[in-house]
Amino acid sequence: MREKVKLTLLPLNQCHEVEKGSQLHDELFSFGVEFPCGGHARCRGCRIRVREGNLSITAPQKSMLDDDEIKAGWRLACQGVISEDLTLEIDQWKTDILSDNTDFQFSSMPGLGVAIDLGTTTLASQLVNRETGEVMAIETDINPQAKYGGDIMSRIDYASRLKKQKNLQSLIRSKLYNMIQALLKSAEIQPTDIQRIVIAGNTVMHNIFCGIDVEPLGFHPFEPISNNLKNYKASDLKWNFSNDMDVAFLPGVGSFIGSDILMGAWVKNMAESEKLKVLVDLGTNGEILVGNKEKILAASTAAGPAFEGAGISMGMRAASGAVSSVSVRKGRMVPKVLGQTEPRGICGSGLVDAVAAFLDSGQISSNGRIQNGESLSVLEPVIITQKDVRELQLAKGAIATGIQLLLKEMGAREIDVDEVYLSGAFGNYISKQSARRIGLLNFPQKKITTAGNTALLGAKLALFNDMDENHFYEIREKTEHLDLSTHPDFTDLFTALVNFPEKS
Ligand code: FES
Repeated sequence: MREKVKLTLLPLNQCHEVEKGSQLHDELFSFGVEFPCGGHARCRGCRIRVREGNLSITAPQKSMLDDDEIKAGWRLACQGVISEDLTLEIDQWKTDILSDNTDFQFSSMPGLGVAIDLGTTTLASQLVNRETGEVMAIETDINPQAKYGGDIMSRIDYASRLKKQKNLQSLIRSKLYNMIQALLKSAEIQPTDIQRIVIAGNTVMHNIFCGIDVEPLGFHPFEPISNNLKNYKASDLKWNFSNDMDVAFLPGVGSFIGSDILMGAWVKNMAESEKLKVLVDLGTNGEILVGNKEKILAASTAAGPAFEGAGISMGMRAASGAVSSVSVRKGRMVPKVLGQTEPRGICGSGLVDAVAAFLDSGQISSNGRIQNGESLSVLEPVIITQKDVRELQLAKGAIATGIQLLLKEMGAREIDVDEVYLSGAFGNYISKQSARRIGLLNFPQKKITTAGNTALLGAKLALFNDMDENHFYEIREKTEHLDLSTHPDFTDLFTALVNFPEKS
């Protein structure tokens, strides 16, 4: 029997055992990667990036990839032979990472700045001209820590139980350094032009980047040792630029309420609003803010991975081959698949749409039971199973309960809310109608708006402000964290909200 080696495929984080010496083309084809020119090294459509291990560079690759790409680890999958354990990033599977192109108000300042949204899964950065507000370059990428766990709890586990926090820290610090260099290169400017770098991220990302022990975030009451503002010089981070620019990691409130969600309150002016606003960032960890100029309440709730397409039998990220939406025309379901390719799975927004459609057709009842059998076909070969529906119920039940409890603590009801913002990538793509149909958001559709990447926009605004003096700290002062897990009404409310609403 031939020796086996491990093949890890990013960003879906799939792990496979394959035979040493096998053709990469054959293995990847069986896992759904496409080879547009038939594997003849003529199209670059099968580009992969070697994250760990080695893949030799053949002559056809040298003619199709430039020197910088080869140096950065890019190869053509159709030309490789697997001779050792490999971690590969599949270019075709790359998710669209949400950047930001919102107009914003600023007071002109000299020099350039870099704003970074450091997410658990994705990274987005922009090089900004502080005199004109112009975005000069954008770089996005996958968080390299993702191979050590898709969600923050597995990242904490890897860091604390396996004593690998330093490893996670150096991975992210060197990835951001490379991204900043890529920004400089693409805008053709020198590091000396950059005055300031600002990073926003959740509490776990903050603590890992800053070297604060994340272990206390792994158990009740899930409070960090600190998630205050951290100021560095680039050289403190071993970022080797000719200009030793300032680097700031923005502060959060506590527990899992990091600067990423707090930025949402800032950019949406929640702390100045007479009227009540709700901001929801949907992900493995759902973060919710409810507030106005009196006060802001913040909570995070473990929604599970369903919204990100993980933990679902045919779930995947919103990448090529994913059913990303389902509409109903003349009583027939019309699924949309991302990319010009055969369906391979279903992502979070497609799952929400599909369940909404099956609820309307009566194939799923309001208690979540599939009426005939254990699965439903969305689009051959993509199905959703009874367990998938249960996962979605848990996710949407947790968010809906969080919103209700925060409203209750504010002495308000849904009808009192003026506007609901959905931030983050999933919030950007989810259908508001389907979110209402499954009971995730119980607000009139016209009150719900997508807010984009508010973490990146907030980091960009912070490039023009001194964080010690500005209004951001008033918002932080005004924001209180509410621990939902110990709230006496949580269980009863969750039980009531875990079912789907009856058809109206
Ligand atoms: S499949 Fe076209 S270059 Fe590899």
